[in-house]
Amino acid sequence: MRGKVIIVGATKGGVGKSVSTYNLAYSLASMGKRVLAVDFDSQANLTTCFGIEDTAAVPVTIGHLMMAQIENEAMPDASEYVQSRNGVDFIPSSMVLSAVDAKLRLEMGAEKMLANILEPLKDRYDYLIVDTCPALGALTINALAAADGVVITVNPQLLAMVGLQEFLKTIKKIKSRINPKLDPAYDV
Ligand SMILES: Nc1ncnc2c1ncn2[C@@H]1O[C@H](COP(=O)(O)OP(=O)(O)OP(=O)(O)O)[C@@H](O)[C@H]1O
Ligand SMILES: [Mg+2]
Repeated sequence: MRGKVIIVGATKGGVGKSVSTYNLAYSLASMGKRVLAVDFDSQANLTTCFGIEDTAAVPVTIGHLMMAQIENEAMPDASEYVQSRNGVDFIPSSMVLSAVDAKLRLEMGAEKMLANILEPLKDRYDYLIVDTCPALGALTINALAAADGVVITVNPQLLAMVGLQEFLKTIKKIKSRINPKLDPAYDV
């Protein structure tokens, strides 16, 4: 079976996306699943959760891979960017991803860059879990374009619910325009 891509998202900040990604990754690993966690936020909080403090010193991050995709450059071998901690593999992030965000906005048809990066890795994992940034920008659209399912973290506040409606609308649009396999009712 090929791995499923689960996006952990919310347009709201500080609602537990990164912590949920981390916990979901280790929960699935403890059930015997092969898991790859992907930090897709330039804040690199998930990377820090995995114990990397100086994220700027990581030579190959998801930002570097996205740049290579956008520029049609050859991808490095997975051994150069997939790291491992206690039975969970992960791809780190750093501030490089914020430059990608700016670049993506100027590119046409670049919604599938993350999907292209993850595609060859699906043979190695049961789940590829992607932590996203708290914005509905080009990076989050790229993440949703790669997704089989979405986990949305929320806190029960009025303004958070307004953001949730927008996020659900975007998911519907992505499903009809870019990624028909995206299943809003996906069951992990
Ligand atoms: N279930 C929980 N119960 C209590 N505190 C939590 C829970 N989940 C996360 N937190 C705390 O909430 C804070 C924000 O969590 P986290 O960094 O995962 O949010 P985030 O949505 O990824 O934030 P950002 O939008 O900045 O990326 C952290 O301090 C975390 O420890
Ligand atoms: Mg986060």
